[in-house]
Amino acid sequence: MAKDQWWRYTTIYQIYPRSFYDSSGNGIGDLAGIISKLDYIKDLGFETIWFSPFFNSPQEDFGYDVSDYYQVAPEYGTQADIFKLIYEVHNRDMKIVFDLVLNHTSDQHPWFIESRSSLENPRRDWYIWRDGRGKKPPNNWKALPGGSGWHYDNKTDQWYYASFLPFQPDLNFRNPQVKQAMFDIVEFWLDKGVDGFRLDIFHSIYKDEYFRDNPFSWHFIPYQDKAGFFQEWKYTVNQPETLTLSRKLRNLEKSYEPERFLLGEIFASDEIKREYLGKNQDGLNLVFLWDLPDARVTAKGLRSVIKKYESNFPEPYLPVYVLGNHDRKRVLSRAGGNIDLAKLLAVLIFTARGIPVTYYGEEIGMQEGDSLIKNCLDPVGQRYKYIPSIIFKTLGLYVNRDGCRTPMQWDSSKHAGFSSSEGDLWLPHSSNFKTQNVESLAGNTESILNLYLDLVKLRKNSPALLQGDLKLLKAPRDVLAFDREIPGEKIGIFINFSTRERQTVLNIPVRKILYSVTSVEVKAERVYLPPVGAAIIQYV
Ligand code: GLC
Repeated sequence: MAKDQWWRYTTIYQIYPRSFYDSSGNGIGDLAGIISKLDYIKDLGFETIWFSPFFNSPQEDFGYDVSDYYQVAPEYGTQADIFKLIYEVHNRDMKIVFDLVLNHTSDQHPWFIESRSSLENPRRDWYIWRDGRGKKPPNNWKALPGGSGWHYDNKTDQWYYASFLPFQPDLNFRNPQVKQAMFDIVEFWLDKGVDGFRLDIFHSIYKDEYFRDNPFSWHFIPYQDKAGFFQEWKYTVNQPETLTLSRKLRNLEKSYEPERFLLGEIFASDEIKREYLGKNQDGLNLVFLWDLPDARVTAKGLRSVIKKYESNFPEPYLPVYVLGNHDRKRVLSRAGGNIDLAKLLAVLIFTARGIPVTYYGEEIGMQEGDSLIKNCLDPVGQRYKYIPSIIFKTLGLYVNRDGCRTPMQWDSSKHAGFSSSEGDLWLPHSSNFKTQNVESLAGNTESILNLYLDLVKLRKNSPALLQGDLKLLKAPRDVLAFDREIPGEKIGIFINFSTRERQTVLNIPVRKILYSVTSVEVKAERVYLPPVGAAIIQYV
């Protein structure tokens, strides 16, 4: 396995620092807490850890509003803790990936404070400022979570642009000083040994240089990453300059030894995503794909996701298999609270061709928190808190992100073992913690936690799972079946989503059942799959 291509074979675990482990007892997770739990991730077998931001921030968007890219927020620790974290992750032979918010800063970042102070300030042009059209904003551009992207500033009688929320002003990447300042940050962390970055809303970085109005569209609900809120996002996302930027960043990262990597959060068609990756593999190393978290949890729904990924991201491209993250409803809750279904989804992401990403807590079956939108802390939820939640349910939109960010469930004690705080946690833990926690599940061989442990190991030790081709197979109703093959090894994956037993006929003899979810039988080249069960089979 080529050492400089390590990211092609890795498994990624995402930590949301505020919710992983609180070592100080103040109800908020912190870096020392994470360090004390690194062995847990190592023992599970994950090879790369991606950290949502822990930099200095007013925490209006819980770290995605950075006010200092070099310092850690005081509630999480000190800069020395970051260095220690890098050291401790490497010491366990794992890779460390930071979350890089290039598109915008917090409005409390000293750059923005200076920029908004006067028209003549040298940093004025570091952000996107324009005159209004009379009393109206400079053009019709909408922000990604809805509403105008322009915000009026009294002091200088101009408007600034924010792709996300008003307190997250967009940087002006057309100003070479801004680009340099952001590249300096990237280099600083690469020099400190960081192995790569997850790039936050990377597709938004450049906006049209002529500030042309976005064309009208009938789509109100965001549609295929192309339109929403009654406009086509023609001039606000995926501009050609952003593609060029992806290549520049890749060049920088390639100059390091061993090679570092870039994982882009991109909202775009698969065709455009391929452009970010580059025909010659000279762009971002990987981009997130969102079809899986949006898919129905049925054999048919998931088969069509694999089919799409395989046809749109064939070798040497690699699909990224994610079930959830800090912006999406917990996968267990999407699967109707059915742990067995959640297990089947895990089988899928660790055996398909691509990079599996696990969001903390998926491995113990964490479910959505119970907090109501009217009390939510998430700034997106707060925006919509007066709109009855039934409307969002009907439209299939997820707006209260508190639900997927609840504290990690370590045991069944007070605060789910997350904190020794006398008071409240920053966010209440979810109600299924008594059964779904690390301590209780570790001792149970049939648990979802042990399934993750087995699957990560199985993948790591199988050349076919790591590098083989994927071929979808014909299968009975409700069964998802595919082969993974490389010269010397062939593996079949059979996943039964039905609540009844299903048989599938193989036309090659079986060497052994490598893994099964509840008891699987193979007799005379027939696999008997139990209800909501799966088998991973090695052929002769
Ligand atoms: C990304 C992050 C999200 C954040 C937003 C603004 O989508 O995943 O959590 O709120 O960008 O930075």
